[in-house]
Amino acid sequence: MAVRINSFEQYKEDYKLSVENPEAFWAGVADTFTWKKKWDKVLEWNFTEPKVEWFKGAQLNITENCLDRHLATKGDAIAYVWESNDVNEANRTLTYKQLHEEVCKFANVLKSNGVKKGDRVCMYMPMVPELAIACLAAARIGAIHSVVFAGFSAQALCDRISDAKVEVVITSDGNFRGNKDIPVKAIVDEAIKNLDFVRKSIVFKRTGGPVIMKEGRDIWWSDEMATASPVCEATPVDAEDPLFILYTSGSTGQPKGVVHTTAGYMVSTYYTFLNAFQYNEGELYFCTADIGWITGHSYMMYGPLLAGASSVMFEGVPTYPDAGRFWQIVEKLKVNIFYTAPTAIRALEAFGLEFVNKYDLSSLRALGSVGEPINVEAWNWYNDYIGKGNCPIVDTYWQTETGAFMITPIAGITPTKPAYATLPLPGVQLAIMDAEGKEILGNDVEGNLCVKFPWPSMIRTTYGDHERCRQTYFSAYPGYYFTGDGCKRDEDGYYRITGRVDDVINVSGHRMGTAEVENAINEHKNVIESAIVGYPHDIKGQGIYAYVICDHVPENADVLRKEILDIVTKIIGPIAKPDKIQIVPGLPKTRSGKIMRRILRKVAEGDVSSLGDTSTLLDPSVVDAIVEGALVPIKQ
Ligand code: PRX
Repeated sequence: MAVRINSFEQYKEDYKLSVENPEAFWAGVADTFTWKKKWDKVLEWNFTEPKVEWFKGAQLNITENCLDRHLATKGDAIAYVWESNDVNEANRTLTYKQLHEEVCKFANVLKSNGVKKGDRVCMYMPMVPELAIACLAAARIGAIHSVVFAGFSAQALCDRISDAKVEVVITSDGNFRGNKDIPVKAIVDEAIKNLDFVRKSIVFKRTGGPVIMKEGRDIWWSDEMATASPVCEATPVDAEDPLFILYTSGSTGQPKGVVHTTAGYMVSTYYTFLNAFQYNEGELYFCTADIGWITGHSYMMYGPLLAGASSVMFEGVPTYPDAGRFWQIVEKLKVNIFYTAPTAIRALEAFGLEFVNKYDLSSLRALGSVGEPINVEAWNWYNDYIGKGNCPIVDTYWQTETGAFMITPIAGITPTKPAYATLPLPGVQLAIMDAEGKEILGNDVEGNLCVKFPWPSMIRTTYGDHERCRQTYFSAYPGYYFTGDGCKRDEDGYYRITGRVDDVINVSGHRMGTAEVENAINEHKNVIESAIVGYPHDIKGQGIYAYVICDHVPENADVLRKEILDIVTKIIGPIAKPDKIQIVPGLPKTRSGKIMRRILRKVAEGDVSSLGDTSTLLDPSVVDAIVEGALVPIKQ
C-alpha cells in the first residue's frame, strides 16, 4: 500500500480499504516506521470503558522516527528555521543533525536532573526551538511532556502542574511578543511557590531580563547543556505509553489533561501531515500555531518531523512590526505551505491589502486553515489574495482529543468548497446523530458529529480521571465518540462544521469552557452569579459575552467591569477576557434551575425578536430586564 495519496481515485480506494479492513490499512502505514519491536495486535478496543489500544505489544521511541532515521539521508536538511519576533534579528536554523544533537544533550540534562521514564515534565516557554527540543528530549527518555501555553496565568499554570504532579518545569527568562517582553520566569515562580514537589526549574535565557534564581531549584539551560553529552540512546517505550498530556477546556470548570499515547499518535500525525498538505521533499512549511496548543504539537513538531519536513517556527505575532509580518516571512524564506487560523486571516484582512501586495507570495503552493469554522468571506480572501487563486486551501477539522486531522481536503486532490472541511481522511468513520441519538444516514442532513470507529491518534484518557473521559466523550451517544460539534453533510457528502453544540466557545480559535470563565468571574466579591455565552465576532469568530448578577449595584459599573477583566486575566489569562459585560438583575432559569443559554445567546447576538417560549422560566420578567439592559451600549 502506498502511504501517500496521489489522486482522488486513490483517496476513495484507500478510504474504502480503511473502513473494510482498518487493521490492514493502519498496519500498512505503521510498517514504514522504525520499531524496536513490532506489534502483536493492531487494534483492541471498546467505546464503553473506553479502552483503545493500537499496535499493542510494539516498542518504539518516537524521536528515533522523528530524528535518527532521517540522519543518513537528510542530516543536513533543515528541520527548523526560526524567525524571531524582532524583524531585524537573524534567523536560526537547525538541521536534522543539529536538532538530533540538541535533543540528545537535553535528554541527558533531564536524566541528570532525575527525570525518568513516565515522569511528567512541564514546558512553559516562548516559541523558540528549545521548546521543541525540550519536548523531544522528554520523549527521548520516555518522560511525558505537558506544554502549557505561555499566555496562561500563574494560577492556570499552577493548576496544570498540580494536576499532572510535575516535578521539573522548563521555562525561559522572558518572552518577546510584539512590543511586549513578558516575564515568563516570574509567572512560573508564582505558579510553583507553594508546590514543594516541583524540584527543578530549567531556565532558557531568551530576553536577558531580570530573574530571581532560587538556590537548589532553578538552573540555567545553557549551564546544563555546556557539559551534556550529545549521545543519548533512545529509551524504548510501549506503543500505548503516554507521549504527552495537553490540557484543554470542556464544559466543566476544570480543564482536563488529554492523554495521547505514542505509536498511534505517531502513525496518525505522520499520515495526515504528509497527505493533507501533500508535502514534497525540499519544501518549506510554515505553521503559525503555538506549540502550547495541539496544532503546535501535531503539526509543528511531530507530523513534520516524522515526514522529514522543513518548518518555519515563528516567535512573534502576525501584526508586529506591522500586519504584513506573515507575508514578509513567506517572501523572505520562500515558504511553500502556509497554515494558520481563520481569526488571523480575518484580522489581517481588516488591515487591508497594502500589507499583502508589497510581498512576493509566488512560492506558496498550498494553504491551510484550522481551529474554527472559516467563513466564506475569509476563505475567499485567503484564496484570492494570499493563494492568488492557485493554492488549494485545506480546511482541517480536528481537535485536541483527535490528535490529528479528521476531515480535510487533500491539497490539490480533493475538490474544495469554501467553508467546507470536505471529506474524512482514510481511517476516519464519521456519524451524524439526530436529537434521539440515532445515526442519520444519507446526504443533505444535519446533526451532531460523532466518530464510530477508533483511529490511532485518538484520546486515550483524561489524566488521572478516566471516568471523566468516558462521561465527556463516550456517554452522550453510547458506542460513539462525540466531538461536541454540530455539522452538516451536504448533497455531495461534504462536511461543514457548524460549531460547538456544548458549553464550549471558540474564541480566536481557542477553546474556552463557559463554566471556567464563569468560575473566574464569580471570584469577584460583588458577583453572585454569572453566565457566559459566545456571540458572533468579526475577527475572533466568537466573542465572550458575560451576564453578571451583583450583590449590590456598583457605584461605577466601569470599575466593576475592569476588576472582572483583571480577575479573569489572573485566574485564566488574557485570552479569556470577556468582550462585553452586562450587569443583570437575574438570569433566565428553568424551574429546575438550569440557565436557558439560548435566550442569553439571542440577546448577545442582538436578536431579541425571536426569544421563543419563555413561559417555562422561573421568572419570565428577568428576560425583559435583560433585553432592556442589552439595548444600552456597553462600555469597556
Ligand atoms: O469546534 C471545533 C473547532 O475547534 C474545536 C477543537 O478545538 P481544539 O481542541 O482547541 O483544537 C483546535 C485545533 C485543532 C473543534 O471541536 N475546529 C477545529 N478545527 C475546525 C473547527 N471548526 C471548524 N472547522 C475547522 N477546520
